[in-house]
Amino acid sequence: MARKKIVAGNWKMNMTPAKAVELIATLRPLVDSNDVDVVLCVPAIDIVPAITATRGTNIAIGAENMHYEESGAYTGEIAPNMLVEAGVKYVILGHSERREYFHETDEELNKKVKKAFEHGLTPILCCGETLEQREMGITIDWIRMQIKSDLAGVPASDVAKMVIAYEPIWAIGTGKTATTGQAQQVCKAIRDCIAEIYDEETAENVRIQYGGSVNAGNAKELFAQPDIDGGLVGGASLKPEFGKIVNYK
Ligand code: PGA
Repeated sequence: MARKKIVAGNWKMNMTPAKAVELIATLRPLVDSNDVDVVLCVPAIDIVPAITATRGTNIAIGAENMHYEESGAYTGEIAPNMLVEAGVKYVILGHSERREYFHETDEELNKKVKKAFEHGLTPILCCGETLEQREMGITIDWIRMQIKSDLAGVPASDVAKMVIAYEPIWAIGTGKTATTGQAQQVCKAIRDCIAEIYDEETAENVRIQYGGSVNAGNAKELFAQPDIDGGLVGGASLKPEFGKIVNYK
């Protein structure tokens, strides 16, 4: 079974609600595709206007984070049922910026992944190594540890439906893309790790994205790799260029 490609934008902390609506009006005709799953992951305050602005299209809206509790005294956090009620379908979990600047741990991410599935949200789980780790030769060991910790106790039937984004930290926002060979090698290692923890069928179904300076010029070659099922796109998802990435063929 061929996996459908999935291209997701990660707007990070950009775009006020009014700007979000303007940008979606620009992107809508460029990225509304049937061939590829298209997701825009937007800041929490942009979610409601973004859902309204994408109504009637094939563009899904995603969140950039979510808490693992249902509700309660967690000032500043967003609960899964809030996302679901707003119409959110995907949620980025464990982006390296959240791991680094907000000290998110694998233990918390494991709870978040489980909670997302409980609510019918599809996680886009991020993993990736630092430049130091790559130079030390521990990239694959590190990624396997992240995957195993973050997916502990998550059933195969859920993993088959999720998205994993491989994002080498040194390639994020730096204009320094991993080579196609490097990206394919790690995405394959992630798939092999899933096959090892679960089974071949789950590994064949899980979609694995590459992220880190994806642009209109490199998307085609990256997405043509056997284990790369699309991309998680930061900077370029804020520009009409995102249309070229979605229509990479
Ligand atoms: P970038 O960001 O495309 O701007 O490198 C990717 C990401 O952080 O998801």
